Amino acid sequence: MNAPSRDLPIRAWTDHTRIPYALYTDEAIYRQELERIFYGPFWQPVALEAELPAVNDYKTIVVGETPLIVTRTGADEFAVMVNACAHRGVQITTEFKGTASDFSCPYHAWAYDNCGNLRKVPGEERFPENFDKRHYGLRRLRAVLWNQVLWATFDDATPPIDEFFGEVADSIRAALGGGERRLKLLGYQKIIFNCNWKVYMDNDGYHAGLLHTAFRMLNYQGGTAPLVADGFAGHWGAHYGAQRMVDNGYLADPTLVFTEGDEKTAAVNLLRPVTQVVKHLNAINFRFGRPLGPDKTEVHYTYLAFADDPPELLQHRIRQSANLLGPSGFVSIEDGSMFERVQKAMGAPGGEINFLKGLKDSPDGHRSLQNDEAGNTPWWRYYKQVMGL
Ligand code: FES
Ligand SMILES: [Fe+2]
Repeated sequence: MNAPSRDLPIRAWTDHTRIPYALYTDEAIYRQELERIFYGPFWQPVALEAELPAVNDYKTIVVGETPLIVTRTGADEFAVMVNACAHRGVQITTEFKGTASDFSCPYHAWAYDNCGNLRKVPGEERFPENFDKRHYGLRRLRAVLWNQVLWATFDDATPPIDEFFGEVADSIRAALGGGERRLKLLGYQKIIFNCNWKVYMDNDGYHAGLLHTAFRMLNYQGGTAPLVADGFAGHWGAHYGAQRMVDNGYLADPTLVFTEGDEKTAAVNLLRPVTQVVKHLNAINFRFGRPLGPDKTEVHYTYLAFADDPPELLQHRIRQSANLLGPSGFVSIEDGSMFERVQKAMGAPGGEINFLKGLKDSPDGHRSLQNDEAGNTPWWRYYKQVMGL
């Protein structure tokens, strides 16, 4: 591990269950996180297979502060490239999504194929003798398709993906159809939360029935399911039998919250650094997050169905998707306000936050309960180490 940067504000931080406010507000900490976490040994989701259904489909995404292009180059082949021209660094495309077999840089018209190989260069005859197009491709990232999601990493040392997620792999798989059902993209919702990315990811099961009025009104969860925190960076996941709604008279039209078909479980996953994968009965979403500096976090909610859904179930999922578990969904709408209020309070000097619930029975946080916060602490143990603090 590298030595800590000299000018970080944290000198004596000993307890990974008590987190100094400065870790959520400081610019130098944020810069070091980019280097050691976002460009470090992590698998970052860059696309769902369902977002790029046909060969030559592409999308763009930003990991850390680095813009990427993700292309489907074959039936089961993808490329993940830094969206920066090898000539003078211009972003090759600013589109969110599209279809293209090649990309031409707008500045001097260098043209690349969708694997990132440089193909055409205007004025090449006046370049130095030793110029070789093969040395001027777009920078490719290591990438792997796993559970219908394409994951990429900047770091050669990132471990194999099963090892990276450890025991949490099971609940990720459960949230994405169990490995048998193909996912279908319904659409997106994008939001910027006014908080540090770690505040967004500190969100826990403890608050669910206490903050969220709708959880109580709709009897939305039991709270006693096992929560596993595993993988070297402390991802966490819970996969559990979920109660179906019965009409209790609170809603004029309760059909929105009913469950169709034979789905009986929920799976909630927090994947480090900034990914959340959630399936609650019929509602499925995949949340790509990224920091916008120390005090803002952008999250792309990606709503999903299954490709083999009958038409009525598809409609039902569309209706539920943003309305239930979106950033303004009625069982999760209060979260954004809590994130912002946490961040505002973090201006106070010398403050810290505390994780407590569940540590009594699970001091290492590895196996706790759905409504505990002990499962958030393995991540902080790892964070302390990877940041050299
Ligand atoms: S910067 Fe892309 S062609 Fe010059
Ligand atoms: Fe919440």
